[in-house]
Amino acid sequence: MKRLYLQTYGCQMNQYDSDRIARLMEQQGYAATDSPENADLIILNTCSVRDKAEQKVYSALGRWRELKERNPALLIGVGGCVAQQEGETLFRRAPFLDLVFGTQNIHKLPAMVEDASMARERQIELAFHREPSYMEDAGAEPIVHGAKAYVTIMQGCNKVCSFCIVPYVRGRELSRPSAAIIQEVESLAARGVKEVMLLGQNVNSYGKTAAGELSFAELLARIDRVEGIERVRFTTSHPEDLSPALVAAYEKLEKLCEHLHLPVQSGSDHVLKRMRRGYTRREYLHRIEHLRERRPDVALSTDIIVGFPGESEAEFADTLEILREVEYDDIYAFGYSPRPHTAASKLFNDDIAEEVKRARLEKVLRLQAEISRRKNFARIGIVEEVLVDGIAKLGRGQMTGRTRANRIVNFPGSAELSGKLVNVRISGAGANSLTGELIGAQ
Ligand code: SAH
Ligand code: F3S
Repeated sequence: MKRLYLQTYGCQMNQYDSDRIARLMEQQGYAATDSPENADLIILNTCSVRDKAEQKVYSALGRWRELKERNPALLIGVGGCVAQQEGETLFRRAPFLDLVFGTQNIHKLPAMVEDASMARERQIELAFHREPSYMEDAGAEPIVHGAKAYVTIMQGCNKVCSFCIVPYVRGRELSRPSAAIIQEVESLAARGVKEVMLLGQNVNSYGKTAAGELSFAELLARIDRVEGIERVRFTTSHPEDLSPALVAAYEKLEKLCEHLHLPVQSGSDHVLKRMRRGYTRREYLHRIEHLRERRPDVALSTDIIVGFPGESEAEFADTLEILREVEYDDIYAFGYSPRPHTAASKLFNDDIAEEVKRARLEKVLRLQAEISRRKNFARIGIVEEVLVDGIAKLGRGQMTGRTRANRIVNFPGSAELSGKLVNVRISGAGANSLTGELIGAQ
């Protein structure tokens, strides 16, 4: 039995891709190991959306160089967005590297590994595909995490947000055929899965580039009918594509969870324009208002970038203001970092000092912590339906799970509750989670 050490950076899409890598290599006789020292194959699945992603990759590779010197049969590979972005440069800067595979070439990995070990030759695959079939692993069982599973519905992005590298490293939008998606959801339900998370860079433009395909709202309606599935979520969506049909789906579809991640990025019209997001602050707020009219209990989360080139104090204040106005349940905030290929990196100077970015980030996070705490406190006394993920990190007989609105709930309970839907009366709240008492399984 050979051993695979797999390290993953980045988003849920990357987690999903890593699951696929692990499964494909398992079929080739590789078992997972959590120590690189014992591995026959080391794979680094990378992200390049923010920060000094490339440097992180080179320093991880630097640590493994010695392992390769000691064991020349060891194979080392880099996949994901940094592989796509850097390509051959990775071989130049890390000559001991064996494999570089881009975001749409995971299915080729087993053959690449075999060729690399037989021929002792480096392998590189960076092609983008025109057909979505590269997303299918024919005959393979879907990947399940307890009662939850991810399902890829599309890949790539056709938007032009000026800061974002995703369209360059994940390619153009491609939608997976709805028949394959529905079949996968059905087979997940048959294996006891209760919650599916539909994945894509911009899920609500699902089907737009495939003639005759269902729209995203239609796809949701079909998935809603799959027996056994209790909860449906998706990520991520662009505000511009929050169509009236999708808003209506929140009102009509029972299984669609009352949670939406809708990245706003900034509260300032000037910044939004420089970011080429395609909406104004008013339009964004209007869409949220419309959604809340239809589904008043919807929980909202968002992404924020602070320190975008030229962001003045007043423009930053507009971002704080939109956080106060919307009262999100959760946010992910980042300091701007220029990314290769992007329009923003070519057009604008990264002129906001690191200390200013850091201070703005802190302000945003502090404000959000206040809002989250207040909103969480308001839930004390309410009975929430929780899908139990497993034993809580803090231990002490505590279990952890999520409400339909994606709030984390910790409560005393036994390990057999894992994967079950239970009712918990909320008795305590913090900025990031709730605590409660079990009042019964469903
Ligand atoms: N498809 C998603 C986002 C993909 S990237 C969408 O529609 O928004 C995830 C998040 O990373 C983005 O929402 C953005 O907030 C952040 N991000 C992307 N590029 C960035 C950059 N150059 N600097 C800082 N944050 C960035
Ligand atoms: Fe990136 Fe904008 Fe697409 S943030 S992933 S280019 S919607």
